[in-house]
Amino acid sequence: MSDGEMAPEVTIKVRANGPLKVTGPVRLVDQEGRVLKVDGDDMVLCRCGRSADKPFCDGSHRGAGFDGTCGRRPADG
Ligand code: FES
Repeated sequence: MSDGEMAPEVTIKVRANGPLKVTGPVRLVDQEGRVLKVDGDDMVLCRCGRSADKPFCDGSHRGAGFDGTCGRRPADG
């Protein structure tokens, strides 16, 4: 982020071989458009497909050999 640029309200962080951590005020809805209950402003969303609590991560990615390497170049790179 450059000087003078405002920080975004929402940040989505790709965790190494794990979930997406979403920090900030967001509304999460299911495939029917129903708002899902989220405690607080942070959530971790499964991207390995193994969670029994989708769309949230339940830790099932651990030890499962999930390779979640992020291949896209950074915006400032
Ligand atoms: S990323 Fe954690 S269970 Fe899928």
